[in-house]
Amino acid sequence: MRPWELEDAAFLFDLESRWETVRYLTPNPTVMASVDEAVASIGRRRAIDHPVHGIWAITLAERGRLLGNLLLKPITMSSALTRLEPVEIGWHLHPDAYGRGYATEAADAVMLDAAAQGLESVVAVVDPRNDASQRVCRRLGFTERGVSHDFYGADYIVFEKSLL
Ligand SMILES: CC(C)(COP(=O)(O)OP(=O)(O)OC[C@H]1O[C@@H](n2cnc3c(N)ncnc32)[C@H](O)[C@@H]1OP(=O)(O)O)[C@@H](O)C(=O)NCCC(=O)NCCS
Repeated sequence: MRPWELEDAAFLFDLESRWETVRYLTPNPTVMASVDEAVASIGRRRAIDHPVHGIWAITLAERGRLLGNLLLKPITMSSALTRLEPVEIGWHLHPDAYGRGYATEAADAVMLDAAAQGLESVVAVVDPRNDASQRVCRRLGFTERGVSHDFYGADYIVFEKSLL
């Protein structure tokens, strides 16, 4: 993982202008419409200045080829009754990079780093139709907590993993 760079804009646009990539990311997903949007988004991703949280580009270690996106950031719960902000981990890859375990490897690395810096647990919030992502969660040792309406104002399967 490394920070997104402005020169990654064409790749980010290719990644997030695909319905296949964004369809399960939020309740009302939209595809990225232009490279300019990608440039703006890279600016926002780079602006996160935190020792543990971030939104990074996933690249191949050997050749630096861009593969996808990995995020670790607090997620607001829908319920106004709680101020709890669990930390969410999320991933999406370019379709050319599917099927090689890259999401698992990237998430593992980020969780190891976060654990070393004291983060106690992470959640992953997965659309019930998203079988591939549910499998990634299980392979990473997440515990399934069931379907909840607590995040993004919609029904998602909540997975949790202790980093202690
Ligand atoms: C989710 C995603 C990152 C998985 O990445 P990946 O590196 O291809 O994952 P893996 O190669 O480890 O495959 C995960 C598992 O899902 C399975 N799988 C892949 N596509 C599938 C599909 N359409 N239906 C059912 N299972 C599927 C794989 O066979 C694999 O199974 P296994 O664990 O039994 O071997 C990738 O599919 C993606 O970017 N999807 C679009 C964005 C997205 O939905 N992100 C997650 C939001 S929560």
